Amino acid sequence: MRGMPIEPVRWRPGRLAVLDQTQLPHHELWVELQGADTAAAAVRALTVRGAPVIGIVAGYAVALEAARGTGEAFAAACDRLRGARPTAVNLAWAVDRVQAAAERDGPDAAVAAAEAIHDEQDAAAAAIGEHGADALPDARRILTHCNAGALACAGEGGTALSVVLALARRGEVEVLACETRPLLQGARLTCWELRRHEIPHALCVDAAAAGLIARGEVDAVVVGCDRVAANGDVANKVGTYAHALAARAAGIPFVVAGPLSTIDPATPDGAGIEIEERAGDEVAGAAAPPGTPVRNPAFDVTPASLVTALVTEAGVAVPPGRAEIARLLSLAPRAATR
Ligand code: MRU
Repeated sequence: MRGMPIEPVRWRPGRLAVLDQTQLPHHELWVELQGADTAAAAVRALTVRGAPVIGIVAGYAVALEAARGTGEAFAAACDRLRGARPTAVNLAWAVDRVQAAAERDGPDAAVAAAEAIHDEQDAAAAAIGEHGADALPDARRILTHCNAGALACAGEGGTALSVVLALARRGEVEVLACETRPLLQGARLTCWELRRHEIPHALCVDAAAAGLIARGEVDAVVVGCDRVAANGDVANKVGTYAHALAARAAGIPFVVAGPLSTIDPATPDGAGIEIEERAGDEVAGAAAPPGTPVRNPAFDVTPASLVTALVTEAGVAVPPGRAEIARLLSLAPRAATR
């Protein structure tokens, strides 16, 4: 299996398909998306998920839509797609970028912009892996949360898992994958990816992480991100903040990996990040008495003060404060950031 590419999105001119992530690891089903509304539905249902891959799919969906015209109906379809999920900033960023290309230069330019986004995210994943491994030369036992692999972030290994793959090329590595309640992206998707890469790993319930960290079983926590505010506060899958607190208490690094497209300089700090609240039945399932009220925030915010390093394709911010983040953004080609 080693080296078998994981491809969450397929684009052939005029045709867009995504690997249905709700069906993994048991079924590898491809779903065709015809334009903005089918893409929005797939994003909401988590058929396609993970901030960078949501951005890639949104870019192609806008390009498909642009081929049918770039008037008012096109703009309205872009608005509906932009609003499909609120937290991952890559969605709005990709829609804006491809919509602007379409309205300025026509449908071929929209396709070129969408393909450029895909290429950039693939390249970012590779660079993030190497920068992350450079930043963690002695880490062998890595805890991760949710899924920040190729399924979520493109490239060979996405963001956090690219760091793991780069470390594995330099020595032995073991991963502790948190299952990630309530929808189990860690158990279903991260373990599927790690198995394909033949990286030794074990699965734990989210609540076990702090105790295992405290017992000295983890060298570093490495996670992805859905939006990074200008001051370095990080929104990521709910449960991430607890791992950051445990890492700080144990004195081990808490590292966030993500492309520059996930940094949102327009949001000054984490308090300004909209946190998606999802349906209660995802949590209650069949276990709770019928009608039990539920809170189901899909993300939480880890303050920059708990983040040891933010790893991007342009380099590493240690620690990720405003000045360091602005410096990294200034290194990117203009189109690749906001
Ligand atoms: O709700 P999801 O599965 O789209 O969650 C988003 C994520 O993929 C994670 O938060 C991940 O850890 C960040 S990497 C994009």
